[in-house]
Amino acid sequence: MDDLRLTDERLCVLDHPLVEHKLSIMRDENTTPSQFRQMVHEISIIEVFEATRDLPTEPVEVKTPLQTMTGKHVPSNLLAVVPILRAGMGMLDGVLSVIPSAAVGVLGMERNEETHQPREYYAKMPKGIENRSVFLIDPMLATGGSALAAIHYLRKQGVKDIRLLVLVAAPEGVRAVLADDPEVRIWTCALDEGLNDQAYILPGLGDAGDRIFGTV
Ligand code: PRP
Ligand code: URA
Repeated sequence: MDDLRLTDERLCVLDHPLVEHKLSIMRDENTTPSQFRQMVHEISIIEVFEATRDLPTEPVEVKTPLQTMTGKHVPSNLLAVVPILRAGMGMLDGVLSVIPSAAVGVLGMERNEETHQPREYYAKMPKGIENRSVFLIDPMLATGGSALAAIHYLRKQGVKDIRLLVLVAAPEGVRAVLADDPEVRIWTCALDEGLNDQAYILPGLGDAGDRIFGTV
């Protein structure tokens, strides 16, 4: 199998000891929902740093206690975060702690247990989303069905810059998303081995939504 990390520059797999540390805690079946939520929160902060590297900045005059200098700021009306319900909510606070000026849209997607097809059940976007860079967040990218449905929805709203942030991805899902949409970029904390018969990621971490909300 070709190495997706090398063949597609639209995929970024984070490479950091703290990411591996936190992800290993998340993968452990004995990790409690409270610990799991905390790790999702912390790892999302690290991931959004990577995914915002190329944001444009504007010069801003700053008066330090000693003198005036030209600093930089990121324009406040540039960004939006869209969690895919439910599990994406686990990443929202961490992402917003780094980019607090981002507007928030919410997309409800539920994967059918048998067909693995996503069903959209809720959508509420901020006005002007088409002019913002959108951070689409969901811990898991398995078949890619939910992410693709979300991307199709956002493209229909006119969004041009979509950045998909996931924590664990299967190669099947990454390939499906990159093949379907020529512009989207993906950040993931891990690229796992593949999917099992139920379309769960291996080794994965189980059902992220259940582990975040304690509904196992
Ligand atoms: C999970 C996960 C993704 C999706 C990934 O959500 O959070 O949204 O499955 O699978 P896919 O790539 O094959 O579409 P799920 O539908 O279980 O809903 P939940 O967040 O409410 O648990
Ligand atoms: N959704 C999850 O939460 N985990 C998987 O492994 C696949 C889909």
